[in-house]
Order: sequence, then structure tokens, then C-alpha cells
Amino acid sequence: MTQDEAKRLVAKRAAELVEDGTVVGLGTGSTATLFIRELAARKLKIRCVASSDASHELAVSLGMHVETLAELPELDVYIDGADEVCVAGGGGLELIKGGGGALLREKIVASAAKEFIVVADSTKLVKMLGKFPLPVEIVQMALPLVEPRLAGLGFTPKLRMAKSMPQGLKPLTTMGAESAKETQGSSPGLPALAYLEAKDKRTPANLEAKDEQAEGDPEATSPYVTDEGNYILDCWGPGIAEPETTAAEIRSIVGVVEHGLFLGMATLALVAGEDGVKEYRA
Ligand code: 5RP
Repeated sequence: MTQDEAKRLVAKRAAELVEDGTVVGLGTGSTATLFIRELAARKLKIRCVASSDASHELAVSLGMHVETLAELPELDVYIDGADEVCVAGGGGLELIKGGGGALLREKIVASAAKEFIVVADSTKLVKMLGKFPLPVEIVQMALPLVEPRLAGLGFTPKLRMAKSMPQGLKPLTTMGAESAKETQGSSPGLPALAYLEAKDKRTPANLEAKDEQAEGDPEATSPYVTDEGNYILDCWGPGIAEPETTAAEIRSIVGVVEHGLFLGMATLALVAGEDGVKEYRA
């Protein structure tokens, strides 16, 4: 089973769990995109809140009823992907999220939901978090202060650039209804999946090479800006052995808005691989 097939399988399974009449939080990213498409196809009577402009526009383009958190401050379930999923010693679920740049709104919407179902292919399952660079969303003007503080915690922070992830595709934040329409039919979710492939190639060496190529290209040399107008520092490191401690240390840095460690938030992980979809309940 390819990674794409696993994503489709788990997205379909998650969509099947949604019941008529519920309030659903829509995640962001390629797996969440597939989930939104599957959910839309079920034509349920549901109300939704999206965790990014991209997912909002996609859902609306598919005929879904999307409202704001102000209108729907309590959600029955939030369903989203993750960059890493770790089943902790006590059975809790620990995640890294934010590869798609939507971690702040994702955390806000997830925190408003009674249940948070994370959907992932089995390549995302890890024994220890941190091989994937931890995204940290920061206030723009705080960059020169936050960067050395994160380095002091043992990370190598790298400012995310507009073209660092999607390699020629629009960042997710600007991937709206137009691109959603383009991908309907035979290749649903294609831009998001292509984006993921680019994201998975985000090694420090590749990023350096891209920075060199980017000289003279204003879009490539401008930082990626989130839906909330912030920057993201992708923090490379040897692994996050104590996620709670790391989360608290990062949170204490003035200028940090949010980090991509989602600890004890997910209630269920659906992970698709060769053996089908496995369930890990927190
Ligand atoms: C976006 C996210 C995504 O959920 C995460 O990056 C996983 O994405 P994908 O399903 O494309 O692998 O956190 O900010």
C-alpha cells in the first residue's frame, strides 16, 4: 500500500465515523483534505468549523456548511492529520503538527472539541517525537529574540520560507476553492499530496540548496506567513525525549505564539498501513 492509498483509506474511515447532526472541526493538510472530500461526499447534515482558510474554502467549494468558532464554540469532534504520532508510555497520544503551517488555528479548534481524532498513515508513527522538525509559530518582530532562545534549547531553528514546503505549489493558506476545484474528479487532493511530498523532502541540506536557488526570486526569499500573520521557525533537533518539558520551555519564550506539540489532546488515532486501519485510543 502506498502512502497515498493509506491516507485515502484512513480519511474514508474517519469520514464514516461522523454522524448526522454533529458539529465537526476540519483539519488541514493532505490527509485532512482527503477527509474533507470524503465527508462532503456523504452529504450529512452537519455544521463545521475549519482550522485554516484553505480547508474552509475547500469545504465551502464542496457544498459544506462552514461557520466560525464564534458561531460554533463547541465541537463534537475535530479530525486532522499529523506529522508525527507517538503512543506514549501511559497510552496517551503525543503529536507533532504544523507541517502545513496551520498549527495555531488547529490547536485552537482542537481544544474546542470533545473528541480529537488524528488520521495518519503508518509512516507517521514514531517511538520518539522530533525527527520531523518541530514548527513553532512566532510573532514576526520577535524573530531575532526567539531564534537564539530556541537554539539555546538545543534546536536548530530555520525560518520557514514561502517556497520551502510546496515546491512550486501555493502554500496551503492560499490554496483555496480554485485549486480545490482543479483537483476534483480523477485526482482529488492532488496539490495537497504533492505538497506533502515536497514537505517530506525538507531536509536541512535541501533547504540550504533551495535558499541558494532562491536568490533573486522575491517569493522564494520571503518568509512564509501563517493565516494569523505570524512566522514559523522549523526546529530541527536530535529528538524530543521529554515533550512536556520541551513544550513548557518553548511556551515560556516571549514572542512564541504556539508550538506544534499536541500533547494529550488527541483522543483517538487512526493509523493506516499494510494491515488496514489500526486504532489507538488515549
Ligand atoms: C498542518 C498539519 C497537518 O495536519 C500535518 O502537517 C500533516 O499533514 P499531511 O496530512 O499533509 O501529512 O499539521 O498544519
